[in-house]
Amino acid sequence: MHKPEQKVYYPDPCYRDSALIHDYNELYHEFEKDPDAFWRRIASDLLWFKQWDNVKVWNHPYASWFTGAELNITYNCLERHVNNDRRNKVAIFWAGENGRERIFTYYQLYKDVMRMGNALKSLGVRKGDRVCIYLPGIPELVVSMLACARIGAVHTVVFAGYGAKALNERITGAGAKIVITADASVRRGGSIPLKPIVEEALINAPTVERVIILRTQEPKVGLLDEFELDYEELIAQADRYCEPVPVNSEDPLFILYTSGTTGAPKGIVHAAGGYMVGAYYTTKYVLTLRENDVYWCTADPGWITGHTYGIYGPLLVGGTIFLSEYTPDYPDAGIWWKLIEDYGVTIFYTAPTAIRMFMRMGEEWPDKYDLSSLRLLGSVGEPLNPEAFEWFYKHIGKNKCPILDTWWQTETGMHMVTTMVGLPMKPGFAGKPIPGVIATVVNEEGDPIPPGTTGYLAIKEPWPSMMKTVYQNDERYRQYWSFGKYGYYSSNDLAVMDEDGYIMLLGRSDDIIIVAGHNVGTAEIESALVSHSAVAEAAAIGKPDPLKGNIIKAFVILRNGVEPTQKLIHDLKYHVRIMLGPISVPAELDFVDSLPKTRSGKIMRRVLKAKEMGMDPGDISTLDE
Ligand code: WT7
Repeated sequence: MHKPEQKVYYPDPCYRDSALIHDYNELYHEFEKDPDAFWRRIASDLLWFKQWDNVKVWNHPYASWFTGAELNITYNCLERHVNNDRRNKVAIFWAGENGRERIFTYYQLYKDVMRMGNALKSLGVRKGDRVCIYLPGIPELVVSMLACARIGAVHTVVFAGYGAKALNERITGAGAKIVITADASVRRGGSIPLKPIVEEALINAPTVERVIILRTQEPKVGLLDEFELDYEELIAQADRYCEPVPVNSEDPLFILYTSGTTGAPKGIVHAAGGYMVGAYYTTKYVLTLRENDVYWCTADPGWITGHTYGIYGPLLVGGTIFLSEYTPDYPDAGIWWKLIEDYGVTIFYTAPTAIRMFMRMGEEWPDKYDLSSLRLLGSVGEPLNPEAFEWFYKHIGKNKCPILDTWWQTETGMHMVTTMVGLPMKPGFAGKPIPGVIATVVNEEGDPIPPGTTGYLAIKEPWPSMMKTVYQNDERYRQYWSFGKYGYYSSNDLAVMDEDGYIMLLGRSDDIIIVAGHNVGTAEIESALVSHSAVAEAAAIGKPDPLKGNIIKAFVILRNGVEPTQKLIHDLKYHVRIMLGPISVPAELDFVDSLPKTRSGKIMRRVLKAKEMGMDPGDISTLDE
């Protein structure tokens, strides 16, 4: 078969010096020569209340980073700037629909975080307690997260698009004492009520003592005495100064849930010290966020991208964040480009699914606006296909901005594989492991394979922002570090490496579907469907889609006597939406009489998928008759 020639884009000469302190090779060499010295140098830029004894202690599969050290991440995100030159620098530009705007300087953010920290303390929140935050992408979300970190509490942010069941699982899974939410979120000119979802999610959530509600709508929603508290009032009554609580480097900073291959989501736990160093390092060296940048990460802060590169990373380096509640197509498909022009955004970090949507809308939209402030583009969440790369490069980056296609995960906490600024870019390939990361592509045994052959992405050594554990499921944590003979960390991604060491990601090898960049577990959808009284059995697969990467397709076996109607399809989709939220709703739903299963009764999704795509199902020797 004739392989199309691989295109290579060489960075504009001006990016060679401005971007990195060292070249990629030099930096990688520094890391390889002495990994601990490398991380010590990076960590020393930050402020620690107590120095570490060891940079790292590695007892496979457990790593401890900056052992014995004490810190508070908010001291590094706030005081480190407020007490220096950045006191009055803009920390956050926030743009809301209908031209609403809010601006927070570092000093203003610092003050709000301290008041919220005190408010939480007044409600009895102590170091180590979990606080669930269910808010849209508004400044209060940033304030709430930092307020938890300020007092050593552990935040667990739940994306405000999740439904009641998904929210309940995360609240109870983390044993949250407090839930912080809003009456509604604004979206596409309307508002989506959040409070009813929270009310439903709190049924059978015994650990929750109080709910803090930000009331944005008029007339104000009523509050249940004692149990529900008004966000604004709480802050107004709180004391001004809130001490940053020193936490141990190994103490948890947050829990973030990600889809599991079984029904239950996994609570990924990140530890304070290592996460801080990883977020700081990659924001500085990979995103190259600098003093005069206006940086926009379009991910919702409720995802890991929003945590690391929407909030913590940029605040750690003292950058200016642009945050917005605008969806990309409302009021029209030019809105994001208008915002880039209006705010002079210099670094724009988004997702392939958004890029493909813009491609479809046509370049007349970006062409209406002045995008010359942009100097760097980024992508994350799923493979950036070459067509989308080229469109992004030409029509948004105007053939001069480098594109970072960053591969990483909720579990890794930070970038792992990308093409760092200054290196030649190959569309379709994420790139190479960044300095600090030892990643490669191997076979099932964990052994190296020749360039160009498909294998598994594996990470050989620990890195600072790797997850600490899976919350209350250490067994599940250990599985991550049990790949092949050598016990590598496996991400469950299929990959290919070329002769130059560039890695191309080919999608998940497990039962996770990436829909428009969001990670959805097949098991979660299936169990939601089966919980409907009409359904006997269900299977969900990802079906490739030019826009969303994948769409969810469900196959449903109905209970005896139930009629397969169009109305029932609608009901089942609605049922999934209410339970899990809109992201998990199957775009297509077929009624079937049977499902392909192994002899042991496992659904063979691979067979369904192959059939759906008109492909050879491969080895079906385990298929039951
Ligand atoms: C999975 C992790 C890290 C933030 C976003 C998603 C896929 C992520 C890329 C990329 C190809 C990618 C992988 C990974 N993925 N980035 N640049 N190229 N695939 O975080 O929800 O934890 O999902 O997203 O399959 O394992 P997540």
